Amino acid sequence: MMKKYVLATVLLGGFIGTLFLAAKYLGVEPDRLNYEYFPDMARNFAYKAQSPNPFFRNGRTEQRPVEGAIARGFMPLHYGLSEEEAKRAGRELRNPFKSDSTANLERGKRVYEIYCGTCHGAAGDGKGLVVQHGYPAPPSLLLENARAIEDGRMFYIITYGFKNMPAYGSQVAHDDRWYVINFIRQLQENQQ
Ligand code: HEC
Repeated sequence: MMKKYVLATVLLGGFIGTLFLAAKYLGVEPDRLNYEYFPDMARNFAYKAQSPNPFFRNGRTEQRPVEGAIARGFMPLHYGLSEEEAKRAGRELRNPFKSDSTANLERGKRVYEIYCGTCHGAAGDGKGLVVQHGYPAPPSLLLENARAIEDGRMFYIITYGFKNMPAYGSQVAHDDRWYVINFIRQLQENQQ
């Protein structure tokens, strides 16, 4: 038993000693780059961002996207700011998400609580906290008028704002805008 421990200690000591020797001869110094093992990932042939690049006429590595390119998930809207344009959005834009998905409705509820309920109230009645502190009250989302607003027009209102309501296009993601509309529809249905 004792012999085993002695052997293990000697072997371990030898191993550590070898490491120290290796470090000495390979010149490992923590404050400068030394022996590189497998450098392929750190040093590859690709040009680094913002470095000069002889392959392109303008000499830059980063190139502009091709004219008309659209980033995934960022479908642009082409609407101006007017009542006519809001109407056109109401006619043209279609809600791509069905209201019967529980996950989407849950998401819509969350978005509503964060971005809309502050003014429109948790129940949609237009008595949110911000309104209680003096912000112009929106009309209740449960009224006939709001029920008649097409999904597309609501999407337009959220994106661009509407009279006293600020625009939320830059805060609320594209899909979230549709989810929140589905949630508002649910609020309306529950309040016949
Ligand atoms: C800062 C307060 C505020 C926030 C936040 C807000 N709204 Fe509004 N909203 C208003 C006001 C005020 C109006 C009424 C605009 C007017 O007629 O001047 C309005 C109007 C609306 C209308 C039209 C209602 C109608 O009957 O004409 C809809 C739909 C609407 N908001 C949806 C939303 C949604 C969805 C959100 C969240 C993404 C949201 N709003 C966030 C203040 C807000």
